[in-house]
Amino acid sequence: VQANGVMIAFSHIVLVFLIIIYCISLSSQARRDLEVDIYERLPVPFGLVRFGVAPDHPEVKNVINTFTQTAKHSNCSFYGNVNVGKDVSVEELKQAYHAVILSYGAEGNRSMGVPGEDLAGVYSAKDFVGWYNGLPSCQKLSPDLSCETAVILGQGNVAVDVARILLSPIDILKKTDITQPALAALAESQVRRVLIVGRRGPIQVACTIKELREMVKLPDTRPEMLATDFEGISEAIKDVPRPRKRLTELLLKTALEVPDEKEQERRNKASRMWAFRFFRSPVEILTNPDSSRIAGIRLAVNRLEGSGERARAVLTGEVEDVSCGLVISSIGYKSIPIDPSVPFDSRQAIVPNKMGRVQQATGLYCSGWLKTGPTGVIATTMNNSFDTARSLMEDMESGTVDISAAKPGSQSINSLLKKRGVKPVIFSDWEKIDSVETSRGEARGKPREKLLTVEEMLQVAHK
Ligand SMILES: NC(=O)c1ccc[n+]([C@@H]2O[C@H](COP(=O)([O-])OP(=O)(O)OC[C@H]3O[C@@H](n4cnc5c(N)ncnc54)[C@H](OP(=O)(O)O)[C@@H]3O)[C@@H](O)[C@H]2O)c1
Ligand SMILES: *[C@@H]1O[C@H](CO)[C@@H](O)[C@H](O)[C@H]1NC(C)=O
Ligand SMILES: *[C@@H]1O[C@H](CO)[C@@H](O)[C@H](O)[C@H]1NC(C)=O
Ligand SMILES: *[C@@H]1O[C@H](CO)[C@@H](O)[C@H](O)[C@H]1NC(C)=O
Repeated sequence: VQANGVMIAFSHIVLVFLIIIYCISLSSQARRDLEVDIYERLPVPFGLVRFGVAPDHPEVKNVINTFTQTAKHSNCSFYGNVNVGKDVSVEELKQAYHAVILSYGAEGNRSMGVPGEDLAGVYSAKDFVGWYNGLPSCQKLSPDLSCETAVILGQGNVAVDVARILLSPIDILKKTDITQPALAALAESQVRRVLIVGRRGPIQVACTIKELREMVKLPDTRPEMLATDFEGISEAIKDVPRPRKRLTELLLKTALEVPDEKEQERRNKASRMWAFRFFRSPVEILTNPDSSRIAGIRLAVNRLEGSGERARAVLTGEVEDVSCGLVISSIGYKSIPIDPSVPFDSRQAIVPNKMGRVQQATGLYCSGWLKTGPTGVIATTMNNSFDTARSLMEDMESGTVDISAAKPGSQSINSLLKKRGVKPVIFSDWEKIDSVETSRGEARGKPREKLLTVEEMLQVAHK
């Protein structure tokens, strides 16, 4: 029986996932009597670090080492394969623990809201990324890569990740933990041209400079931007803040500057090309005459109203058709409600909260993208989660969260789960999966070969 049970639900895919566990180490320093249980829908931990971070960014995944250390803390337990909202309700968790922190991220995607969005050949970046990163629910996607041109809508880091994976030489990808089916499909891919389309202009791109630099340097590719997209930009950047200025300068250089001889030669030899296209919003997906596959996308031509980061795209009334066989919508993720008892703001797609305290729900907290919306890098999300942990600690100190009486914690939840035929995957079970994955990877010269179905994960975990 726990003195103080704190429970964290991660039933879904999350960038924040184990970031929260960081708070555990903070918390346990402050309170020696704290116990933290983590519930996760999938049999494997690490959320978006495993299923979102690009396979060719292994250094970003090093944060898993820190998460693992925390998960192995003697007062921290992991219960994977538990679907909060289905296998166990948030209300039941609140009964069993002094506090519940929801940290299940943003597993939905914003929809474009244009005709043809549901056609075969149109994918959300969320699903496309899930496919090449081994997310079980996305394995059936097997995207059709038999076309020459792909259009990605949105210009954030996710859009750039997708463009890079579509265009990377296969020799680079095969040394990463990208899944074997994705590797096979990409090796056969006919995609030679990737357009990354934004509704606003070069000063408003949402990606960061490191990711843009990677595109500029990507072997066997060349940039093909349009000079007309950059009219007036050299003057306009004088007034923008420094990080944004450097990013725009790199865009300008890539688009307009005549490269030196060596770079020119590299570009001439490249077999694939990429470009940002600006001032364009999706209007409609176009199909071939018998509607059997997509033939292109109709884009509305925009102009900007206002300047800087806050400039707004306004329709000019003009449209432009672009031929392509693949459309990937990368216009942002969004959180979804998982339990009717938890307040949810559908407009902002977050759980309404003050510093992580869920409004009108004592003992209930949120962190990560569920708390703020889907923005920021891992470090941003860590800070966001530390703040929630701090709020909870304050509430325990002040007595807002009453910890005077013991709560049963995982003991009562585990007996509920048993009755319902749900067998959790604990951290040492995950380590069995981890070891199978790394040894399968080793055999292929990759850091890891991920298991692709929940069934196989459970088989290995419960062997
Ligand atoms: N390597 C990394 O560090 C890395 C990798 C992946 C993701 N991340 C982070 O994860 C977060 C999420 O990334 P993200 O790329 O999904 O989101 P994001 O950075 O918010 O980018 C979303 C893009 O979609 C556009 N957009 C939104 N609604 C639209 C609409 N209705 N029509 C047309 N375009 C629309 C946005 O344009 P507007 O600006 O005009 O709204 C923006 O270009 C970001 O903070 C990102 O930096 C980081
Ligand atoms: C774990 O929690 C118990 C109380 O449930 C406490 O006595 C113990 O000191 C804690 N251990 C650590 C390492 O924090
Ligand atoms: C995700 O995007 C797809 C295609 O763009 C759309 O059909 C679907 O409704 C979106 N899902 C959510 C949860 O918005
Ligand atoms: C996180 O917080 C630390 C300490 O306040 C700060 O130094 C750092 O810049 C923050 N990181 C991000 C990405 O917000």
